[in-house]
Amino acid sequence: MAILNFGSLNIDCVCAVEHIVQPGQTIDSTSFTRFPGGKGMNQSLALARAGGTVYHAGMIGSDGEFLRALLLESGADCTWLKTVPGSSGTAFIQVDQKGQNSIVLVGGANRVNTPEYCDQVLSGFGDQDMLLLQNEINQLPYLVDRAYEKGIPIALNPSPMNEAVLACDLSKIFLFIMNEDEGCRITGETQPERILEKMHTLYPQAQVVLTLGSQGSLYSGNGQRIHQKAYPVTAVDTTGAGDTFTGYLLAGMARGDSMEQCMKEAAMASAIAVTRQGAASSIPTRAEVLAALQEA
Ligand code: RIB
Repeated sequence: MAILNFGSLNIDCVCAVEHIVQPGQTIDSTSFTRFPGGKGMNQSLALARAGGTVYHAGMIGSDGEFLRALLLESGADCTWLKTVPGSSGTAFIQVDQKGQNSIVLVGGANRVNTPEYCDQVLSGFGDQDMLLLQNEINQLPYLVDRAYEKGIPIALNPSPMNEAVLACDLSKIFLFIMNEDEGCRITGETQPERILEKMHTLYPQAQVVLTLGSQGSLYSGNGQRIHQKAYPVTAVDTTGAGDTFTGYLLAGMARGDSMEQCMKEAAMASAIAVTRQGAASSIPTRAEVLAALQEA
């Protein structure tokens, strides 16, 4: 099964800081690095490094050719990726000493997708494929509606959560991969079990994966409930850990692996990612993930 990932690509401008800057404060950074990133791009890289067949669609500016090169190098297909005038998406990221981050996005090329471009890309895919979406591009509700009309199963990582996600017809989603905060914004519930219950009431067609940070992750769907533990590591940079999880999970599902195995590989891949700096650059290969699982 091929996965079309229609998503963002960012240049991540990362400042290492002692603590996340507070309102009214000016602080020094201890280092500054430009990394490849963007939730879409990170998830495509994770899919490709996990052995999946992934087509990345989206837009970069003239400063973003290194993002395309990295996707190609990792094995993602960039036939549909478009270069447009102007700047690529940019993320201004602070990472503190515990590896926690705070992110400000500048949409750039991620926000100039048109209905015509969406139609053009979707014309290459059908009901045997899968569409993966996040919420860092414009045209999200349009993509959901058109893909659904074509019978393409849609997996949604509703991140970052805002009104564009809530403007989508979420009854058209077959798989949600989200964190507790996103689950809470969709359902109004705060407890993981209640979020899952409410998701199944609201969207009985959907399978749901809820990531819980150090508490691991939960899968609920097809009459099955799985709890996957988080693998304990010392965090250096948590940026992109969720994207790594999503890419590995979907690659496993596309391979036809059991959900237990998909969750296990996703959990280990994201654990490895948080021990490394950067988002896209922290994503392990499947060989690394399988080796780490054998040792765990
Ligand atoms: O999920 C991590 C990503 O969020 C970063 O790479 C940054 O680009 C932001 O989009």
